[in-house]
Amino acid sequence: MKEWTREEKYKSIGEAQELLPLHEKAAASAWYPRYHIGPVCGLLNDPNGFSRLGGSWHLFYQWCPWGAVHGMKHWYRVFSEDLVHWENRGLAIRPDREFDNKGIYSGTALPCGDSLSLYYTGNHRTERWERIPYTCYAKTGAQGAVEKASAPLFAPEKGYTEHQRDPKILKKDGFYYIVLGAQNESKQGRILVYRSEYPDRDWKFIGELRVPGYEDFGDMWECPSLERLGEKDLLIFCPQHLLLPGRGNTVHHNVCLVGRMDWDTLTFLPEGPYQILDYGFEFYAAQCAAESDPAPDELTLIAWMGLPDAAYPSDEEEWSGCLTLPRKLALRGGQLMQTPPKALETLREAQIELQGTEAVLPPACELELEPNGPLSLSLFAKADGSGGIRLCFDPADKTLTLDRSAMKNRFETAMGEARSVALPGGLSKLRIFVDASSLEVFVNSGEAVLTTRIFPEEDERHLFLSKPAPARLWPLSDAVSSEFIL
Ligand code: FRU
Repeated sequence: MKEWTREEKYKSIGEAQELLPLHEKAAASAWYPRYHIGPVCGLLNDPNGFSRLGGSWHLFYQWCPWGAVHGMKHWYRVFSEDLVHWENRGLAIRPDREFDNKGIYSGTALPCGDSLSLYYTGNHRTERWERIPYTCYAKTGAQGAVEKASAPLFAPEKGYTEHQRDPKILKKDGFYYIVLGAQNESKQGRILVYRSEYPDRDWKFIGELRVPGYEDFGDMWECPSLERLGEKDLLIFCPQHLLLPGRGNTVHHNVCLVGRMDWDTLTFLPEGPYQILDYGFEFYAAQCAAESDPAPDELTLIAWMGLPDAAYPSDEEEWSGCLTLPRKLALRGGQLMQTPPKALETLREAQIELQGTEAVLPPACELELEPNGPLSLSLFAKADGSGGIRLCFDPADKTLTLDRSAMKNRFETAMGEARSVALPGGLSKLRIFVDASSLEVFVNSGEAVLTTRIFPEEDERHLFLSKPAPARLWPLSDAVSSEFIL
């Protein structure tokens, strides 16, 4: 594995030509996604600035151009009319000011008229490499270039560590609010709240968000978000450096609390236990789209299909990361339901019949299954049925398990190679989305999702079902352009 020097990681982008070989290498990879957003080259992590303006979808991602390394971060822009077909639109925000000299870190967007207001963390480092995270502002036309404000909106708060980042912007009752992920001096994850009458000035710190029961829940809360869904409020965030039941040894999580936000007392009152947004392996930094004309009972969410501090087999090819499929969120009772967008069905090509209980997997496909009783499904198995990733449901203990330990390319094994979810009402339906290096399993009508990266070799292409069940398999057409645009 390549060792990176600080200079290499934090190099500035010069000529586009110097990135072209890296782009060509990623685009030629058998693992490069066909209908998920991948990096134009180098590394992709969090989704940023996800928004819907005048019917079109705008999205940016955390991007380090230089390879599979978390170094100098930029915002790279992609665009879609339907949430399914995405085009590259080029570099949107680069670290070219003193206050963001070592990276444009994560943030969000707010549609304002026909432009987007963008809020991000300027990752400033002093000469002694001390970090000072600034909350910064920029603005864009619907298609046009991004203009940065000449100064940050505010500096980090005293009483908290250097970990203060990932502004989420929202508007409520005539005020603008920013919620910011933070760590207090006792190393506990917190959310800071700021308010202003204006999107781009006069921001004031108004206090810490109280979340009763969650005072000691990880040492940092990254990518916090407050959303309204129907009659409820959602608090979405990524608590770090704690173990959660059923999540193996991973210390990175993305959870959602459903409850009520009391803006007068700055308290979020959870109405039930936290919900894991994804029961699989790689899922982080989820962000809901800010919409100029939101539907009252639906949200659209997208996430990074990756985790911090992790290494993937594609690192050898000098690229890393992709985003998940966008998901529609709804509430059933207090439970979050997540389903793929309807428009994804437009990617389906002519259906393939299973040969009894077997099939050869197309490189990108969707499998719909209606299991009855116990299920044992192998995907990416070898022709003789060995190996692969296994999905099993045991009706006795009503548990669905995804196990990737039999794949040839194993990675992040110390985190545990199996994940499970309890399905108290049983298993009636699965929709499984396979791309060149990923799998997303939507369970029942959106009751749970299990996501995993997967890096199959050429002889790992087969599907086997342990017993017949109604199944439909469609190859999916490519939906994401890999054009090299800077
Ligand atoms: C989450 C995160 C954010 C930060 C960004 C930097 O993955 O660590 O907290 O803003 O990535 O790329």
